[in-house]
Amino acid sequence: MIIGILKETKDNELRVAATPDVVKNLIKLDHSVVVEKSAGEGSFISDENFKDAGADLLDSSNDVCSQADIIFSVNSLSSEQLKQIKKNSTIVSFFQIKDEIQQISDYTNNNLSLISMSHVPRTTLAQNMDALSSQSNIAGYKATIIGADHITKYMPLLMTAAGTIKPAKVLILGAGVAGLAAIANAKRMGAQVYAFDVRPVVKEQVESLGAKFVEVESESSEGVGEGGYAKEVSEEYKKKQGELIKDTIKDMDIVISTALIPERPAPILIDKDMVNSMQPGSAIIDLAAINGGNCELTECDKVIMHNNITIDGRSYLPSTMPNDASKLYSKNLFNLFKHIYNKDNPLNLEDEITNGSMLINQGKVNNQMLQEFLDKDNS
Ligand code: NAI
Repeated sequence: MIIGILKETKDNELRVAATPDVVKNLIKLDHSVVVEKSAGEGSFISDENFKDAGADLLDSSNDVCSQADIIFSVNSLSSEQLKQIKKNSTIVSFFQIKDEIQQISDYTNNNLSLISMSHVPRTTLAQNMDALSSQSNIAGYKATIIGADHITKYMPLLMTAAGTIKPAKVLILGAGVAGLAAIANAKRMGAQVYAFDVRPVVKEQVESLGAKFVEVESESSEGVGEGGYAKEVSEEYKKKQGELIKDTIKDMDIVISTALIPERPAPILIDKDMVNSMQPGSAIIDLAAINGGNCELTECDKVIMHNNITIDGRSYLPSTMPNDASKLYSKNLFNLFKHIYNKDNPLNLEDEITNGSMLINQGKVNNQMLQEFLDKDNS
């Protein structure tokens, strides 16, 4: 197969879908690789680095799209790029059904296949293909560093000749992949860390990282959805949760919110009154900004000040560490590619990982949630 690597076009995107190491590995598997010129620029990978790895450099995205059988990308393709792509080819990228539903006819009409990195099941076997996790890990880590930068205090306890400085207090809302990474790093930085999640099962993980689990008393299965994800909680639970967060947040220096229910708008956990109750100089890092935000006041991709509280809604934190983010993403993508296009067992839609990530197979919808969105759109 000819594999194409494009230069990403989305604002603030500095990652690239394949590093030279992955290019070498693809060539070892008898594929050839074409790369758009300066595709690696944002991650400090030069055209020479790609050439040395064995790739052919092409001048434009049009050249790559018209030659490749399969395109590796971080973000889904622009409508301009989708027009240039060969019929019957395949795209592998992050893809959010609810945000990108309008693009679906471009895939189906041109007999394209779409493999979504956002839909790789979070199972043990798929761990090395799970790009949502590798990138959320980065976001959680980076959120603590950004938080420490925004606040006007030290993170750790300090005993100095001039007096004792108390450690900063950090609250993490949502202890999934990003949340646990944030807890671990905030602890490393010496902060006092609190965490909250609707899934009681994470209590043990939170505590094992040395943070205090803030708990809502309720039926233990209330927020537990399928596949290790959360589900919407009852109004009564939301009320109790609101009171608990209101009570806790006023003493916090940094709040990092990561609460997510897949393919749903982010739950609002921090309202304006709660923000107003926080200490001047404190900060909220809202990782859920792209899905609407966990804080009522968050503006996606902006850093704003409200009542002397910083609210950071940047949705591209992995891109602020493009070197490692590209390395991990491209390794995840390569592992998925190898799993799906296995010479000994070609394209097996009975396989959980292949079936879960293949949203469209040669123009045909292969995902129930996508089909439901399309049916809703057409009704
Ligand atoms: P995840 O699914 O592993 O974790 C989300 C956690 O939120 C789960 O533990 C879930 O139980 C919890 N949760 C759901 N509803 C809740 C509620 N009402 N109250 C408290 N907790 C609740 O997701 P992951 O991979 O950790 O991603 C977290 C967020 O970070 C997502 O919104 C994702 O889009 C975002 N993200 C942001 C980036 C950025 O640069 N800003 C980069 C990568 C991810």
